[in-house]
Amino acid sequence: MSQMKLNAAKSALEKIPKRGAMGLGSGSTVAIFAKELGQRISNGENDITVVPSSYQAYQLAIEHNIPLTNLDINPELLLTVDGADEVDRDLNLTKGGGGALFQEKIVAAASKKLIIIVDESKLVEKLASRFLIPIEVLPFSIGFVKRKIKGMNIEPIIRQAEKKMGPVVTDNGNFIIDLKFPRPIENPAKIAIDLKMIPGVVETGLFIAMADEVHVGKEDGVYVISK
Ligand code: A5P
Repeated sequence: MSQMKLNAAKSALEKIPKRGAMGLGSGSTVAIFAKELGQRISNGENDITVVPSSYQAYQLAIEHNIPLTNLDINPELLLTVDGADEVDRDLNLTKGGGGALFQEKIVAAASKKLIIIVDESKLVEKLASRFLIPIEVLPFSIGFVKRKIKGMNIEPIIRQAEKKMGPVVTDNGNFIIDLKFPRPIENPAKIAIDLKMIPGVVETGLFIAMADEVHVGKEDGVYVISK
């Protein structure tokens, strides 16, 4: 297990309320967080229920005996803790490396606070510096969406599954297109809107002005960047 991720996860744990409903993000850093959260709940230190943001998060909650809830029972969550693939200077994020961006965005939007846990490698000056920007797309619309994306001078790459032939199918039955920009993005808010306006694009992995705190794990500690 990465010490950097563990330090970020433990730091976020200090910010969770004693009791209430929260969102549980996805990814390998969240997996570490979920294990620690499960221990706290077992010890009686916290009385927390979670809305999972993916099948992975759902399985993590089951594995670590974290009680589940949903957005019908808890339409407003106290906070969400999630990972990210890139974090820029304004705390805008790229997410979706694990294909869970759509439900992650819903859970984050339903929360009063979004805490992001990352290691230092995720910090960038501008988004799309190192990581491709994922979008979730309705399979029916793939050809059309690819045409529109190419028209924006962006290369669309349909994400392929690794232990199944063909494309990745998301938890919602959609495909993921990873977008290769010619250069890092200057105005991610505008790009996010332009992409979302294409019929067939269900959601983008650009999380603009959503994060409140980013807990950055290092080998020997952690620091927090706040909005
Ligand atoms: C899942 O789709 C992603 O948004 C993850 O939250 C993101 O990829 C971070 O994952 P790691 O913590 O594994 O880097």
